[in-house]
Amino acid sequence: MAHRIAVIGGDGIGPEVTNEAIKVMAAAGVELDTTAFDLGGARYLRDGEILGDDTLDALRGFDAILLGAVGTPDVPPGVIERGLLLKMRFELDLYVNQRPFGGTAPGQDRPHEFVVIRENTEGPYVGEGGVLRKGTPNEVATQGSVNTRMGVERCIRYAFELARGRERRHVTLVHKTNVLTFAGDLWERTFDAVASEYPDIDTAYNHVDAACIYFVQDPHRYDVVVTDNLFGDILTDLGGAVSGGIGLASSANLNPARTGPSMFEPVHGSAPDIAGTNQANPVAAVLSAALMLDFLGESDAAGRIRAACDDAGTGSTTSVGDTIAARVRD
Ligand code: IPM
Ligand code: MN
Repeated sequence: MAHRIAVIGGDGIGPEVTNEAIKVMAAAGVELDTTAFDLGGARYLRDGEILGDDTLDALRGFDAILLGAVGTPDVPPGVIERGLLLKMRFELDLYVNQRPFGGTAPGQDRPHEFVVIRENTEGPYVGEGGVLRKGTPNEVATQGSVNTRMGVERCIRYAFELARGRERRHVTLVHKTNVLTFAGDLWERTFDAVASEYPDIDTAYNHVDAACIYFVQDPHRYDVVVTDNLFGDILTDLGGAVSGGIGLASSANLNPARTGPSMFEPVHGSAPDIAGTNQANPVAAVLSAALMLDFLGESDAAGRIRAACDDAGTGSTTSVGDTIAARVRD
């Protein structure tokens, strides 16, 4: 049966790279029934729609959501991010953001292979806080971080389950327990409690600042990394930078309980400066589609697509997509 996929191409290069991802999945012989949703900054500027409840309910009926990129320079920061992207992550309970990284970091002589599990529904992203006396010399702004035992535990548990299926069976917690003593303590105690249920998995802990050094200078130490929402956001850009560039970085926003669709998107943004020029690298979108196929039980096609993305070369968006599609077809 065809998988029912909601496609949000979005803004900038989003639609271009998403088209290549769909092209490659078709070449791999995967049956897809796609429905396009016109959402993002451009749509918002046109008629004010960001992500209404009716649209959200419509999305709930799909097997998965494939997203290109959202955001345009003409819309103030936060409007589309909070109203569309984060709304989907929160409302669809996409509590795991899984971001795999492979490649040879600059200055290293061999490739690394690790995956970051970023908590995706809590932390500073929740938007706790507010502002007082705005625009005055006495302005006060607070921005809290929400960490629940349930939210932290389910994310950490996912990381351990994932590690069980990997060769090295190793999980590193990344946080800042020496300064964020409330949230860090909750994360650390939860990590230790879950770890005790997985005696077959080795563990480590790194402060997030130290992890930044190791991502660059010793990435081989990592297998599965689990961390909070904001640390994960920052660390995964660095992960992309040391793994061949952000043009290759893919991500899966997962609802592991499968109470609704999961969402798959490249880590990169909408790159409005090169939109419409056929220059964007579609590999991140194609690899995100491969993550989607994994989650939909199409691991054979996903594996073939991943292999076809190796050294897919440079060139226009459509020519790189054609190269990958041709390899997958063979
Ligand atoms: C990401 C992005 C988003 C995030 C932005 C666009 C809200 O940077 O997916 O990493 O911060 O999560
Ligand atoms: Mn980010």
